[in-house]
Amino acid sequence: MSWNARALDVLAAGEPTPLIDFPVRAPGIRLLLKDESAQPTGSLRHRHARALFRQAIADGLVTEGTTVVEATGGNAAVAQAWFARRLGLPYIVVMPGRHSPARARAVEELGGECRFVTPPLAIYDAARGIEGHFLDQFGRAGEHDLAEELFGQARPDWVVTGAGTGATSATLGRWIRAHDLSCRVVVADPENSAYFPGWTLDTPDYATGMPSRVEGIGRPRIEPGFRPDLVDLVVPVPDAASVAAARHIREITGLPVGASSGTALWAALELAERMRARGESGTVVSLIGDAAPRHLATCHDDTWAAERGLDVAPYREKLSVQ
Ligand SMILES: Cc1ncc(COP(=O)(O)O)c(C=O)c1O
Repeated sequence: MSWNARALDVLAAGEPTPLIDFPVRAPGIRLLLKDESAQPTGSLRHRHARALFRQAIADGLVTEGTTVVEATGGNAAVAQAWFARRLGLPYIVVMPGRHSPARARAVEELGGECRFVTPPLAIYDAARGIEGHFLDQFGRAGEHDLAEELFGQARPDWVVTGAGTGATSATLGRWIRAHDLSCRVVVADPENSAYFPGWTLDTPDYATGMPSRVEGIGRPRIEPGFRPDLVDLVVPVPDAASVAAARHIREITGLPVGASSGTALWAALELAERMRARGESGTVVSLIGDAAPRHLATCHDDTWAAERGLDVAPYREKLSVQ
């Protein structure tokens, strides 16, 4: 078997992630959480990584022995290092900030190398300067296999996701149109992100220039992978509401999710409330992007929230009557 054929085997779709029934006080409305923390590397970035590797191999940009490079500080590096190890490829990630053994550990344990660069925006040029193939998860954000899997498991009327690269909402929107489904795609957007104002004002080059405080979603500009025409609704979510909703998910499921899962849940609950008020019934799916013990020291921690001026209490109160 050739290296490419073996590689495509390694990159075949994995086990479906579960759907968790989530309590919602709205008769006739079912809320399901699609739990991407069940991926082998613990996050939705697992699907992105698989899609990026498949595309790079299909385009002849990665083959046996190619060094694979990325620029990111987040979950993408762990997912990519996991696939690189299985494909027997060297992997280098450029992360923003000062050298941190704690942040490098997960990638190094998978045989990858971390290089740290300041200022944060220099990571992209640094990655381009490394000999090898720059996966470029924002520049090449391609569709992945979430929609095919999800619509094989359920027939939701609405799916709620965050947007980082934009690939997940584009994947869902394209699948729904290609298969003529009646489901609608909602993007839940945190503070400082360009997606809500850019989509609302129909301004594809909208930029806020400010980083999102919700890891993994919300961008200072509209990224090339975001397809406003494939999104039915964008809901702005206050960061304190994202934090309160992430804690709510943990209380009910036990999963220490990141704030981005809270952003999606908050928008899903607002949607359920609107459906209830209009007398509608149906199924809403909301994404859990990841879950990890490290989130216990961030969005699940009161000191962390207070240091950022996030007043979670009013949102917690609202959730307690949901
Ligand atoms: C809840 C949630 N939705 C969506 C995403 C990713 O969105 P995209 O496919 O736009 O990068 C993430 C993070 O990876 C997430 O945590």
